[in-house]
Amino acid sequence: MHPERRAQLTAWARDTGALIVEDDYDAEYRFGSRPIAPLRSRAGDCVAYVGTTSKVLAPDLRLGWLLVPAHMAAAVSAEHSVAHALPSVINQAAFATLLESGDFDRHLRRTRAIYRARRAAVLASVISRVPLRITGGAAGLHLMAWLPPQASECDVVAKANLVGVAVDGLRGACAVKRDLRPALVVGYGAISEAAIPAAISALIDVVSNASPTTPRLVAGER
Ligand SMILES: Cc1ncc(COP(=O)(O)O)c(C=O)c1O
Repeated sequence: MHPERRAQLTAWARDTGALIVEDDYDAEYRFGSRPIAPLRSRAGDCVAYVGTTSKVLAPDLRLGWLLVPAHMAAAVSAEHSVAHALPSVINQAAFATLLESGDFDRHLRRTRAIYRARRAAVLASVISRVPLRITGGAAGLHLMAWLPPQASECDVVAKANLVGVAVDGLRGACAVKRDLRPALVVGYGAISEAAIPAAISALIDVVSNASPTTPRLVAGER
């Protein structure tokens, strides 16, 4: 979000007494040129900041954190204990040890380089084969690959799975599906860099066969 827009958002929250929930789930893997400071760092009075270990360690850990404005802390803590949403104490202790020892920072530095290389491999493989507009690659472990408007997302996902390429469709990830253009959510968190060119090539074959007209490469955010 543009800095001016961010300032407008926090001004609006302060004026109206609203709470902004900042879901910074992919903060640790940013591949854009400039890291963006969270809204929370400038507007701690009106932002609840949410983080997770799902991308940096593993989703099955079910560990996360929530920083709320100070005046809400007691109420949120009380609600939380009623909900019994308590992650494993052993996992929490292990994560605390990782943080305190500096191993977590070392892990992030190592994995950032790995994911940056995988992301570059996906983009290079797409560019070398033409189609698919790619966006959303500035952060996280996924890219969005926009299909030609006439393509059936469901069909492409099913056929890709049949040739051994596991991708998700955008529809399943969106609550509001009206006017949604067909797209794939292409993750590179669980594939080796060496396997990427063949996987993308197989995916592009599926897309090309699924579309009556050859899709064009459209310049997009990388
Ligand atoms: C938008 C968004 N927020 C948060 C998360 C992390 O969720 P959780 O910590 O429940 O795994 C994800 C995971 O993919 C996500 O896509």
